[in-house]
Amino acid sequence: MVAALGYGTTGLSVGQRVFGLADWYRDGSLAEYVAIEARNLAPLPDNVEFAIGASLPISGLTAWQGLFQHGHLQAGQRVLAHGAAGAVGTMVTQLAREAGAYVIGTGRASDRQKVLHFGAHEFVDLENEALENVERVDLVFDVIGGEVQKRSARLLKHGGTLVSVVGPVEVQVTQALAVDFVVEADRAQLSEIVQRVRDGRLRTNIGTTAFFDEAVATLNSTERRKGKTIIRLRP
Ligand SMILES: NC(=O)c1ccc[n+]([C@@H]2O[C@H](COP(=O)([O-])OP(=O)(O)OC[C@H]3O[C@@H](n4cnc5c(N)ncnc54)[C@H](OP(=O)(O)O)[C@@H]3O)[C@@H](O)[C@H]2O)c1
Repeated sequence: MVAALGYGTTGLSVGQRVFGLADWYRDGSLAEYVAIEARNLAPLPDNVEFAIGASLPISGLTAWQGLFQHGHLQAGQRVLAHGAAGAVGTMVTQLAREAGAYVIGTGRASDRQKVLHFGAHEFVDLENEALENVERVDLVFDVIGGEVQKRSARLLKHGGTLVSVVGPVEVQVTQALAVDFVVEADRAQLSEIVQRVRDGRLRTNIGTTAFFDEAVATLNSTERRKGKTIIRLRP
C-alpha cells in the first residue's frame, strides 16, 4: 500500500510505499483504502513487490514474536516447528535457522520436500512417523494444537518453551514454560523481516493470488490453500 496522509511525526512520507498490519479491532483491510496508524506500518523497499510485502506481516511477525519475544530463542537451541510448510511455519523455520537454531519441521507426508527446502534440518511426517522419536527440544512452535500439542509438550527440555499461536495451551507442561499470544504490529520487526527478504535471507510462501472481485470467493473457498493468499486490487 501507499501512505497517503499523516499527522505529526509518523516516520513516513506521503506517497511512500508501505506495508503492515491493521490492528485487530478494525473491520479489516480488504478494501481499496484503509486507515492504519502509522506506527503499524513500515517502509516497503522499492525492490520488494507489493504482493511480497502483503505476504509478510502476519506470518513474519508471528514467527518473529514467537521465536524471539516469547520463545527467547538462542543460537544452538533446538526448535520443533509444527506446520512447517505453512505460512507461519516457513517463516519460523527460516528465522530460527538463521538465528543459529537446529530446526525440526513437521507436517504432512507431502510437505517433506517443501519443509527441507525452506531450511529445516529434519522433517517429521506427523501422519506416519512418531513424534516421540524426536530428541528433546528447547522450543516448540505450535500452529496445530490438540493432540499434536500434547505429544510435543513431552519433548521439551527442562527450561524449554512451548509457544502456541492457536489459543491457550491445553496441556500441562512441567519444568518448562507455556505461552500463547496474538501477533501485534511492530515497525522495527517488520523492517528486520523485509530487510531479510531484500537480502535473499528470507523467502515468502505465497500460495494463491486472486483479484479483488474474486476475493470473497477465494477466501471462502473450502479447498485447502497452500501458503499465503494474496488479494490484488489491480492487475
Ligand atoms: N495467534 C496469532 O497471532 C496467529 C498468527 C498467525 C496465524 N495464527 C494461526 O496459526 C495457524 C497456522 O497459520 P498459517 O497461516 O501458518 O496456516 P497454514 O498456512 O495453513 O499452515 C498450517 C500448516 O500446518 C499443517 N497442518 C495442520 N494440521 C496438521 C496436522 N494435523 N498434521 C500435519 N500437518 C498439519 C497444514 O497442512 P495442510 O494445509 O495440509 O492442512 C499447513 O501446512 C492458524 O490456525 C492461524 O489462525 C495465529
